Amino acid sequence: MAANDAATLTIRDNRTGSEYDVPITDGTIKAADLGKIRTAEDEPGLAVYDPGFVNTASCRSSVTYIDGEQGILEYRGYPIEQLAEKSSFLEVAYLLIKGQLPTKAEYDAWVHEITYHTFVHENVKGFMHGFRYDAHPMGMLMASVGALSTFYPDARNINDADNRHMQIVRMIAKMPTLGAWSFRHAQGKPFVYPDNDLGYTANFLSMLFKMSEQKFEADERLVRALDVLFILHADHEQNCSTNAVRSVGSSQVDPYSAVAAGVAALYGPLHGGANEAVLRMLKRIGKKENIPDFMQGVKDGNERLMGFGHRVYKNYDPRAKIIKKACDDVFEVTGVNPLLEIAQELEKIALEDEYFVKRKLYPNVDFYSGLIYEAFQFPPEMFTVLFAIGRTPGWLAQWLELVQDKEQKIARPKQIYTGDRTLDFVPASERWG
Ligand code: CMC
Repeated sequence: MAANDAATLTIRDNRTGSEYDVPITDGTIKAADLGKIRTAEDEPGLAVYDPGFVNTASCRSSVTYIDGEQGILEYRGYPIEQLAEKSSFLEVAYLLIKGQLPTKAEYDAWVHEITYHTFVHENVKGFMHGFRYDAHPMGMLMASVGALSTFYPDARNINDADNRHMQIVRMIAKMPTLGAWSFRHAQGKPFVYPDNDLGYTANFLSMLFKMSEQKFEADERLVRALDVLFILHADHEQNCSTNAVRSVGSSQVDPYSAVAAGVAALYGPLHGGANEAVLRMLKRIGKKENIPDFMQGVKDGNERLMGFGHRVYKNYDPRAKIIKKACDDVFEVTGVNPLLEIAQELEKIALEDEYFVKRKLYPNVDFYSGLIYEAFQFPPEMFTVLFAIGRTPGWLAQWLELVQDKEQKIARPKQIYTGDRTLDFVPASERWG
C-alpha cells in the first residue's frame, strides 16, 4: 500500500456499528474529526480525555525540536550543543524570535536595541520597593512583568508587527533588570541601574552584585557560564510555562500579561522551581552516608528525586550534559561546591538502580544548574528567576508564532462533568431552619 493511502485511521464505533475514516496528518488526527463520531444527532461527539496534555499536540511550531528518546534538542534546527559552545544568548534569542541566524548588521542592531531598553520606568522601582522585605523574587518578577503592561498600553496592539517587535525587545531587555532588582530587594540593597557599556549577561551580574565600585566587572568565565545557562533554558517547546503563555496569549491579551502567566507557571516546583528543590534536597541529605536512606524513601514513594525525570526526555537530558561540564568551568573560579559530591553519588546510584532505569528517569536540566547558581552565591529563591530570564526569548518566539497562526483559537479545553445535575435550590433561610 502506498504511504498516502494509509494516511487515514478507520474507527469503528461499537456503540452504533458505524465506521469513520479519519485523516492522519503529521502523525496526528484532528480532535475535531473525533467530534463527528456520535451515537445520535443530539448527543455530544467523541472527545479525547488527556489530563496534562500527555498525548495532545496543541499547535504547529517551527521553534524547537525535541526527540526525548534520543536526547536531542534543537532550536530552529541547530543542535543545542553547538549553540551552547559557539553562540551567545542574544544571538540565540534572535534565532528563536526571527527564525534564522542574524547577519552582522542584524546582530549589531539587535544588541543595540536590547541594550538601550534595559532601563525601566522609575515608577517600577517604586512599586518593587513596596513588596515585603522577604518577598520571593519570582513572585516579584511575575508581578512586575505583568505590571509592565500598564506602562506600555500600546502593547495590546498585537496585530501590528512593528509593535510586537518593540514589546519583544523591551521584554528581553528589561527581564534582567527586574530579576536583579527582585534579588536586591530581598537583600535590602539599593537597586543598581543597567550599565549599557556591558554585554547582556555581564550587565545582569553588575545589577546583581555591584556595590560602591565604579564599575562591576565579573570574571569572564562566570559571564560565559551564565550566558550558556541562559542559552540552555531559552526554549523547550510546549512545556508547562510555554503552554501557559500560549493559552493566555490566545485570548489576544498583550504579551506582558501572557509572559507573566509563563513566569507564574515556571514558579512551580515541578517545572522551573525544580532546581531550587534540588538544592534543598541536597542540603537535606547533607552527607553521602544519608543517601541510601533517602533513595529508599524515593523508591517507597515518600520522596521524589528532584532534578530527575522528564515528561519528554526518556534519556539523558542534553542540557544536563552541558551543565555538568559548565560546573567545572565555574568551580575553577569559585571553588568546588561540596554538594557536588552528593549530587554525583545520587546520579551514579540512580543510573544503575532498577527503579530509575525501568522508568527511564535521567538527570534533567535542573539537577546540576542549582549547584552552579549556588557557586555564583545566588540564594535558591533566585534560581527560577534565572530560568525565567533565559526562557523569555522562547516564550516570546512561541507567542509570536501563536498570534500569527491562522489555525489557532482561544484555548478552551473540554471537561468530563462529574457533578450533580438539576438540583432544586433551597434558600438558606429554609436550609438552616
Ligand atoms: N523521583 C522518583 N520517581 C519519579 C520521579 C522522580 N523525580 N519522576 C518520576 N518518577 C516516577 C513516578 O513516581 C512514576 O512512577 P510510577 O509509574 O510507579 O507511578 C513514574 O516515574 C512516571 O512519573 P510521572 O510523574 O508520571 O511522570 P511525568 O511525566 O508526569 O512527570 C516530572 C515528569 C518532571 C514532573 C517528574 O519526573 C518529576 O516530578 N520530576 C522531579 C521534578 C523535576 O525535576 N522537574 C524538572 C523538570 S525539567 C525542567 C523543565 O523542563 O521544566
